[in-house]
Amino acid sequence: MLATFAGQNDDGKADEVIYAWRSFEAYPICVGLAGAESVRIPLTADGRHDLEAMAAAVTARTKVILLCTPNNPTGPILATRETESFIKSVPADVVVVIDEAYQEFVRAEDAVDGIAMYRKYPNVVVLRTFSKAHGLAGLRVGYSVSNPELTQHLRVAATPFSVSQIAEKAAVTSLQHYDQVVERVQSLVDERQRVTAGLKELGWFVPDAQGNFVWLNLGENSSEFAALAGEHALSVRAFGEEGVRVSIGEPEANTRFLELCANYTKPPRRS
Ligand SMILES: Cc1ncc(COP(=O)(O)O)c(C=O)c1O
Repeated sequence: MLATFAGQNDDGKADEVIYAWRSFEAYPICVGLAGAESVRIPLTADGRHDLEAMAAAVTARTKVILLCTPNNPTGPILATRETESFIKSVPADVVVVIDEAYQEFVRAEDAVDGIAMYRKYPNVVVLRTFSKAHGLAGLRVGYSVSNPELTQHLRVAATPFSVSQIAEKAAVTSLQHYDQVVERVQSLVDERQRVTAGLKELGWFVPDAQGNFVWLNLGENSSEFAALAGEHALSVRAFGEEGVRVSIGEPEANTRFLELCANYTKPPRRS
């Protein structure tokens, strides 16, 4: 997708792709593979996109802006109003990608709806996946939604037959049983709410969790906490000295996670 709209130019200068950081770890890899240059805009202290700074970072070389909502790994969504003013503020020839990988888990009422943005703004591309709510990560199936003017370029650059027959069948079957997907997602959201409420009770700050994970801004204690979690048979993901993403698991594991946090004396910071 990225290589379709951004890369290297005849003058040897790379196009620029703006995205919030920290965000999905594949972004820098995909931008680099496309031959483009990453422009990373730090998240705000509460793990949100700094849309003002992102808009200010646009140059004549900016070809793509990636918006991740909810943001992996921190959790907050982008709101409709702020996203819409952001899209309006950037040049119409810059492609705005709205990555909604965790869209099914969102419960925030003001969350942006990527599809509504695509209907209004011709430079918007929405990304969705069957990897999360549908639980089909191993099958590598997802899709993008954009207007034909953009889609025609994606079609030229897309790898032919990249979705296997079995992945396609699984995705269609999952959609045919969408009520079960909704039920599973709701159980996870209920657990997410229990976990975030539990953390707040302990006095821990957690950014608004709208995906299937919570973010602990543990700074330099991140790897220590991850190792400790490992000793308690809890698999969490530390990101350098920034923080730890904890996927919401089975209720019993979530309870053990809360117990671990209750006994951990170095709570997450706000920034
Ligand atoms: C924000 C975000 N976008 C996209 C993806 C990738 O989805 P897929 O498995 O369809 O490549 C992920 C997976 O972790 C993600 O976190």
